[in-house]
Amino acid sequence: MPSTESGGAAKTRRVSLWWWLVVAAAAAATSVATQENHRQQKQESHQQENHQQNLLMDMMSSLIDLPVIGNVLRASVHPIYRPLVSQFQPRINNRDRENEFPELCFGELGCLFTDHDFFHPIHRPINLPPNQRDEIQALFTVHSREDSLGRVVEALDVRQVLNTTFSPGRSTKILIHGFLDHNGVTWMWDMVRALLVYGDFNVVTVDWSGGSQALYSQATANTRVVGLEVAHFINWLKDNLDLDPGDVHIIGHSLGSHTAGYAGERVSGLGRITGLDPAEPFFQYMPPSVRLDPSDALFVDVIHTDADSILNLGAGYGLWQPVGHLDFYPNDGRSQPGCDSLRRIPYAALTSGVSLYEGLDAAQKELIACSHNRAPKLFTDSILSQCPYTAFQCSSYQRYMDGECVTCGEDGSQCARLGLQADAWPGRNHSLVPFFLSTSAGPNYCLYHYLLTVDVADPDGVEGSLRGRLKVSFITDDGSIKDFDLTPDAPTTLARGRSYSFFLYHFQDLSSSSEALVHWIYEADVFNPLSYCVLFCDKGLPLARLNFTSVDVAGNERIARGSNFTSRSNEVLMCHQQGLEVVRIASEATVKVVSSPHCLATVTSHERNATHLLRHHNRTTGLLDAGLASITSMFSTE
Ligand SMILES: *[C@@H]1O[C@H](CO)[C@@H](O)[C@H](O)[C@H]1NC(C)=O
Ligand SMILES: *[C@@H]1O[C@H](CO)[C@@H](O)[C@H](O)[C@H]1NC(C)=O
Ligand SMILES: *[C@@H]1O[C@H](CO)[C@@H](O)[C@H](O)[C@H]1NC(C)=O
Ligand SMILES: *[C@@H]1O[C@H](CO)[C@@H](O)[C@H](O)[C@H]1NC(C)=O
Repeated sequence: MPSTESGGAAKTRRVSLWWWLVVAAAAAATSVATQENHRQQKQESHQQENHQQNLLMDMMSSLIDLPVIGNVLRASVHPIYRPLVSQFQPRINNRDRENEFPELCFGELGCLFTDHDFFHPIHRPINLPPNQRDEIQALFTVHSREDSLGRVVEALDVRQVLNTTFSPGRSTKILIHGFLDHNGVTWMWDMVRALLVYGDFNVVTVDWSGGSQALYSQATANTRVVGLEVAHFINWLKDNLDLDPGDVHIIGHSLGSHTAGYAGERVSGLGRITGLDPAEPFFQYMPPSVRLDPSDALFVDVIHTDADSILNLGAGYGLWQPVGHLDFYPNDGRSQPGCDSLRRIPYAALTSGVSLYEGLDAAQKELIACSHNRAPKLFTDSILSQCPYTAFQCSSYQRYMDGECVTCGEDGSQCARLGLQADAWPGRNHSLVPFFLSTSAGPNYCLYHYLLTVDVADPDGVEGSLRGRLKVSFITDDGSIKDFDLTPDAPTTLARGRSYSFFLYHFQDLSSSSEALVHWIYEADVFNPLSYCVLFCDKGLPLARLNFTSVDVAGNERIARGSNFTSRSNEVLMCHQQGLEVVRIASEATVKVVSSPHCLATVTSHERNATHLLRHHNRTTGLLDAGLASITSMFSTE
């Protein structure tokens, strides 16, 4: 690295340049939009507005293409990203100064120790003393079904809780926001609402904006005091109202996850902590006493959504390392679907209504923290969703995507539900276990997963393999048709008498399907004359049957019944409508197969090679994408 002084200064100039560009673009857009309102020509103004939005979008696109911009945006939010902002940081990142406050006491809350666990030259170079309680001024807002707007309790006087609708007879959920946020942040309101619809809870939101809206290093220090405040609140309720701490569930986002951990450290028998993309800077690879860990509550579940995001050049805001009993990695826990596109920037917010600053702030948050903010959205969606959010234990996301881990195991402990129901997981005595699942770009984030096995028949007198493209469309009981292109990238070669498996997903539940349309197009390989169909060959696909198995149904059965799970059929077998052994699908034809008792009898002597495609082709990701999108279809009814 070059000297930080000159490097830092040069980069800072670039920071201001980029910000100037962004602000100028937004300001131009705003002023034009204002002029147009005066013209009051609605039609024209609408077009103009689109034009402005496109202009702005182009501008933002070109900015984002430059590798530096991700880090610039990031640095503007996370001041720890030195050397970009090094001159703004207090210079106390050396051991001697750090040890000036080995113990700090906060009256009734108790004391904090900053021992050597809290120092690391790379992962945690700065340990500032936290602010005082009355500077942070934490506030608890107690919501319940009787009082959904909630009533505020000052942390400095927790007896005020007696004036709220709090009832120790109900389960309690405590929500804690992250860096720069406050309790008016959208995800908190959404989660409070969903929780109160779901159950008769006390839902307490913690506002520590007095401590979160500071330099990141200071906010990090302040989380320890907020943790003490939350612990004190719970312990006070336990001593005075007989609250059972085992019935308390703390849900924290980003820095709020570690805050929950600090609280859990001081409450014996705390029931559960959910970490929603726990913050990475200053916490990753630090000892358990510094960060959230499984000892902080009886059950700790964690959702990782931003361990590595594209815009930040391989370093997200969220922890990569597992820190709970159960660690979920939706879409590999890295960049989330829909977060790689500029289209999600709220241009409306930029160009109309709210102030320029607010618009920019919203856009910037959406732009750079989209994956980080996905974790609370997934959790909230899980509360009322019918879709089970089934995740599977697996050694890697790639193996999960290859369909190698979609089993719940003997005791059901290898699958779990992401979100509110995660505590039903039968494997609760394990810890630091990675679970994988795929989710969509929303608004229906949850996906249903299926294994489809295609059994190719081997009729007498026909030789050779078949090369071509295969599509399957499932007809659900309400008559809608869902298409899956099983060979989206290239034609594939199928051998007669073999079986091929595909791991598919869709945002709708297709387990009620009892019929499917199968479409086959024979395609010779122009570069391989041996594949030309000249004599004694048949371009038709001899299909024995389809086995369409819902993976989620299996998961839920097992989760619901725990170790007493007994195998239940969740597969639909589809074959010839009249019960013939082989369905012959001529090239470019579409044939319907149906579920019937005959199908069980078909295919007995065939060589099983169910994982052929999955193991030996790198196309699985493409298959999945195709299954999800299912846009191109000859069967489309829309
Ligand atoms: C409860 O509210 C009443 C009236 O608003 C007030 O007089 C009383 O001091 C409050 N009690 C507590 C414990 O804050
Ligand atoms: C606890 O974990 C061990 C393996 O670590 C496993 O053998 C045992 O069955 C588990 N017990 C329960 C109740 O899940
Ligand atoms: C159908 O597929 C599922 C999942 O691969 C498998 O467990 C099941 O045994 C298959 N059923 C038959 C009849 O082959
Ligand atoms: C499991 O089954 C056994 C015997 O069938 C029964 O005694 C036990 O209570 C069951 N356990 C659960 C958790 O349902």
